[in-house]
Amino acid sequence: MQTTLRGRDFIGDLDFSKEEIETVLDVAWDLKRKRALGEPHPYLRDKTLAMLFFFSSTRTRGSFEAGMAQLGGHGAFIESKTTQIAHGDTAKEIGEIYGRYFDGIAVRHVDWGIGNRYINDVAQNSRSPVLNMQCEIYHPFQILADLMTIMEKKGRDLRRKKMVVSWAYAASYQKPMSVPQSLILQMPRFGMDVVLAHPPEFKLMPDIMAQARAEARRFGVGFELADSMQAAFKDADVIYAKSWGAMVHTPDPEEGAKIIKKYESWITDERKMALAKPDAIYMHPLPADRNIEVTDAVIDGPNSVVYDEAENRLHAQKAVMALTMS
Ligand code: CP
Repeated sequence: MQTTLRGRDFIGDLDFSKEEIETVLDVAWDLKRKRALGEPHPYLRDKTLAMLFFFSSTRTRGSFEAGMAQLGGHGAFIESKTTQIAHGDTAKEIGEIYGRYFDGIAVRHVDWGIGNRYINDVAQNSRSPVLNMQCEIYHPFQILADLMTIMEKKGRDLRRKKMVVSWAYAASYQKPMSVPQSLILQMPRFGMDVVLAHPPEFKLMPDIMAQARAEARRFGVGFELADSMQAAFKDADVIYAKSWGAMVHTPDPEEGAKIIKKYESWITDERKMALAKPDAIYMHPLPADRNIEVTDAVIDGPNSVVYDEAENRLHAQKAVMALTMS
C-alpha cells in the first residue's frame, strides 16, 4: 500500500502509480462499506473543496459535493460563468487565491486545446491539491470508478480479460475523447487486453496512443485496433462503447458533425452484444444518447452496469479526496 498521496494533484491517469491506484481502490471499498453500514467517516472534517465547472455535469458535481459532505467537509459549487474569470481572473490567480481559501481545487474544463492547460496552470500556482473533474484529454475519476466496477463484476485479477473501448454514434454533441483516452491508459496496468474500435476519422490523440501502447508493453497485455464494433466485440468480457468527437481529424465542429452522421450504424444493440461473452458487462459513463448510441434493451438490460458505475464515482472520489486533502 502506498500512503504518500497527501497534497498530490490528480490530473492525468498516470499521475498515480499502479500501487497508488490500488491504495485508492482499497480506501474506496472501505468507504463504500462504511456508507453501507451507516458508519460516519469524517476524514475531511472542516475541509473545503472548490468545485470549478466550465462545463455542465450531473454525476461529477453530485458525487463530489455529496462526497465532501459525507467526509465531514464542504464542496463549494462554482459555475465559472458566475465568477470574474471572464473579466480577467487568470488560472494563476485562481490557483493562488483558491489554493489559500480551499483545501483542494477540483476543475472541469473540456474545451479542446484549453482545458488541460488551464487545470495544469491552476495546479502550478495552488498550494492545495488540484483534481481533474474532466478535461479534453483525461477523465481520471471516471476511470477509477470504472476500474472499481469491473473488479466488482469480474474479480480483482483482470489478466486476460478482454475489454473493448469502442466509438459509438451520437447525435447530441461532439463528446470529449477523455473517457476512451483515460481507459486505454489505465486499464492495461491492471492486466486487461484492450481492443480500441473506431471509424477512421475518430482517432485518439497520438501522444496518448503512444503512451497506451507503452503501458500495454510494460504490463504484457494486448492493445489492438479494430475498424468495426462487430470485429471488436467478439468474445469480449467488457464492452465500453461511447461517442466522441472527430477533434483530432478536424478542429471544425461543423465538419466533425457531418462526419459523425456517416456512422449511424455504430449503435450498441443486442445483436452486437451477443457477439461478446454471455456474461459480458456493458458500460457507459453517461449521459448516453438512448436508442442512438445504445438501445434501451442494452442499457437497461441484464448485462448493463451503468448505475453501479455511476455510484462508484462517489466512493472512488471520496477515497482520492481523503488521501490527498487530509
Ligand atoms: N460521467 C460523467 O462525468 O457525468 P457528468 O458529465 O454528468 O458529470
